[in-house]
Amino acid sequence: MTRDKITTQTVLARKGGPKLKMITAYDTPMAEVCDQAGADIILVGDSLADNMLGFPDTLAATVDIMVHHAAAVTRAQPAALVVADLPWLSYHISVEETVRNAGRLIREGRADAVKLEGGRKRLPMVEAILAAEIPVMGHLGLTPQSVRAMGGYRVQGRQANPARELLEDARALAAAGVLAIVLEGMPAVLARAITEAIPIPTIGIGAGADCDGQVLVLHDVLGLSLNKHAAKFVRRYANIAETAVNALQAYFADIQSGAFPSNAESYHMDAEAARVFKEMVGEME
Ligand code: KIV
Repeated sequence: MTRDKITTQTVLARKGGPKLKMITAYDTPMAEVCDQAGADIILVGDSLADNMLGFPDTLAATVDIMVHHAAAVTRAQPAALVVADLPWLSYHISVEETVRNAGRLIREGRADAVKLEGGRKRLPMVEAILAAEIPVMGHLGLTPQSVRAMGGYRVQGRQANPARELLEDARALAAAGVLAIVLEGMPAVLARAITEAIPIPTIGIGAGADCDGQVLVLHDVLGLSLNKHAAKFVRRYANIAETAVNALQAYFADIQSGAFPSNAESYHMDAEAARVFKEMVGEME
């Protein structure tokens, strides 16, 4: 079934419902799977650094890596809106560098929008990207690129003052014109207050049930990694890594027993060619 392309306008119109369905994907086949399943938004997250590339956190992601994976996802031509993460240090140094990096995700990665972490501190960058006609998604709360500054992956906004700061950050981002804000790792009551306070969709991850949408990392939802500790907010819907191990063990057993490949899985000559070939080989011996 083909779907109409999800645009930034579609996303904005989903404020208040129906809930937005967002999921990460980092390559073409997985983008096809997410799109077929009905994702509204595919996020080419910098979480690919820890989920795909074996790094301990997202800080290893570079603009080149993000462009490479965004291009792989958009080659699937999904109906879902494709949002690509600006990685750490790609929007912290100068406005000019920021716009150039965001432009690469759009021009080379063919993404529909970019996402960056942080609130009022990042406003000049957000405004400059928007001024370059590039849609921006915000990301507040437990922002993984701040892992060093936060002293670990800690739920944010548990106290009244930091919670009020996050609410002000959300208001500022919404006023600047971002298309939606990811709210990660914060008390549900705060996510709800932010959702009620701003006119654009919020998309929660570890932020309770009252956001305008939800996002999880694909590898967590599908159980694609064998040895990953899952956060409290993750719900696993499959265990693909275990299924894959079982399938490969069956394949390897068939190799050893000779059951693979079968006659039907082999190529054949027609009878006359086989007879001539046999004679030739016989002459050569
Ligand atoms: O990179 C990522 O996967 C993200 C989500 C956790 C929102 O930013």
